[in-house]
Amino acid sequence: MYRFFVFVSLFLIVLSGCSPKELPEISIIPRPYKYWVTEGSTRIDNNSKIIYDAQDTAVGVLAEWLAMALNSRTTLRLQAVPLSGVKSVGNDIVLMSNLNDSLFGHEGYFLGHNNRKTIIIQANDAHGIFYGIQSLLQLLPPAPPETTALPDHLNFPAISIQDKPRFAYRGMHLDVARHFFPVEFIKQYIDLLSLYKFNYFHWHLTEDQGWRIEIKAFPKLTEVGSVRKETLVGKGGNPERLYDGQAYGGFYTQEEVREVVAYAQSKFITIIPEIEMPGHAMAALAAYPQLGCTGGPYEVATRWGVFEDVYCTTDEVFQFQELVLSEVIELFPGPYIHIGGDEVPKTRWKVCPHCQRRIKSEGLKDEHELQSYFIRRVSAFLASKGKKLIGWDEILEGGLAKDATVMSWRGMSGGIEAARMGHDVIMTPGSHCYFDHYQHDPATEPLAIGGLTTLSKVYSFEPVPEELNQQEAKHILGAQANVWTEYLPTPAHVTYMILPRMAAIAEVLWTPAEKKDWTGFYDRLPWHFQYYDSRGLNYSKAVDKPMVKKKSAADGGYWHFVHSEIPDAIIHYTVDGAQPDSTSPLMPDSLLVEEAAELKIFVRRKRSKTE
Ligand code: ACM
Ligand code: ZN
Repeated sequence: MYRFFVFVSLFLIVLSGCSPKELPEISIIPRPYKYWVTEGSTRIDNNSKIIYDAQDTAVGVLAEWLAMALNSRTTLRLQAVPLSGVKSVGNDIVLMSNLNDSLFGHEGYFLGHNNRKTIIIQANDAHGIFYGIQSLLQLLPPAPPETTALPDHLNFPAISIQDKPRFAYRGMHLDVARHFFPVEFIKQYIDLLSLYKFNYFHWHLTEDQGWRIEIKAFPKLTEVGSVRKETLVGKGGNPERLYDGQAYGGFYTQEEVREVVAYAQSKFITIIPEIEMPGHAMAALAAYPQLGCTGGPYEVATRWGVFEDVYCTTDEVFQFQELVLSEVIELFPGPYIHIGGDEVPKTRWKVCPHCQRRIKSEGLKDEHELQSYFIRRVSAFLASKGKKLIGWDEILEGGLAKDATVMSWRGMSGGIEAARMGHDVIMTPGSHCYFDHYQHDPATEPLAIGGLTTLSKVYSFEPVPEELNQQEAKHILGAQANVWTEYLPTPAHVTYMILPRMAAIAEVLWTPAEKKDWTGFYDRLPWHFQYYDSRGLNYSKAVDKPMVKKKSAADGGYWHFVHSEIPDAIIHYTVDGAQPDSTSPLMPDSLLVEEAAELKIFVRRKRSKTE
């Protein structure tokens, strides 16, 4: 250990001794907290090793992973070597979890080099090392060259990074109930989360349209509840109510769930399972009709929306929830269980004798307080098992359960209210965080649920509302993007909706607000687009497409408005059918175009500040 410390202090001297300047841009997303570059590069070749502290097996696993990642893109056969008494360190990569600096927390890291010879990643624990490796890999080209032979060495830019996240909660959600996605894709989704340094995956496992997790105490949940007999075609408003006539189903066995949990753990991601109650429960009611107010019969929902049949509030319902949650708790070691709580119509409760009796016997004012009673009772059960409850912001109605964490989705106001009451909050407002929304003009995009959340809009998101004072603001743990899948039937469609928007929210969550910069982010995107291309991931290039809006003019023709997300965009146009270029006239804020003419657009970036 002695040599470790000598080594570390040397490194710090090198860092403070040179006169580095902060780089304008590197390819890393999310942008690190601080970084500097010096001349030259560090070379990793066949004499190099990946060295780690022999006592730190968690870092040893990461060293093996890094060796594999580097070997796969070169002819190198680097090996992970446990460090014991190494005298001189050459062109190696050294991973050390002995930073001992509370400023970096358990997720921060230091990435640097010793006189451009040794690359060093140092952190307080393996979690930080993992993020350091993710950053290191983003300093290389996104994929090995396709046309030339694999290289026999690697040059890393001589960069030094001090990094740590802004928020402790950095999440992505996935609805696997409206459409089901196989374990292989869930792992791929987790890989993407880890690429962008997210640390929570919110797995939305139950819905009206399907129950997707095996529960041994209630086998019908999956035997009956995981299959819907058909699915509505197109939008919910479809007047013909056309159905596809195809049974649709799927679920994860407990063994598969364990496999996914372990996979996520290896990427330092905590999974939050969501088991919805008291609403969005048609699949469970179809399996066990006695859990509903009317006793059924019910069927697994075949269309989207909100359903009036919800769980009743009998003792049997609470026993059911406790048994289900007990199995869920066994499967998911993380601190949180999400119980939904959103969109619960009170129609059935208002006329159900059991529910009315419950309102009386518990001294509740109305059905809103009954909802609150439901959540509190489940929350107390979770607390007795050492777990914390998360719910959507409707759990505020009728009084919030003690210690509940609120996910604010209907705007920011639920989150503000909860934070003022001293509750933890995760911001996920529809305006910026719903990745099922369109990302460009709906006329040119595949069918989506609605909305318009462009890449720059996601990037502009600020999770901490100005209304909160400093003390209250501490309750904003972070934010999350949600991926509801009513209109996303395939993995390729899911990746199209999240890439690159998840990169934008990753930067919102990681990078200090004052260091966020849309131009810089945009300039880092090409690396990421190449990364997606090289892995065959479907993604959206909408950010480069200008958006044209038309409005009828009173005297004929159309007013045209053009918006481009490209930083410093200069927009040229023609209306005479010719292809526009940089010599064509500049597009004004709005332009009246005759009915018969066609507006054509050419967008380029400003070449200099004075142009
Ligand atoms: C939600 O989008 N219903 C939470
Ligand atoms: Zn009832």
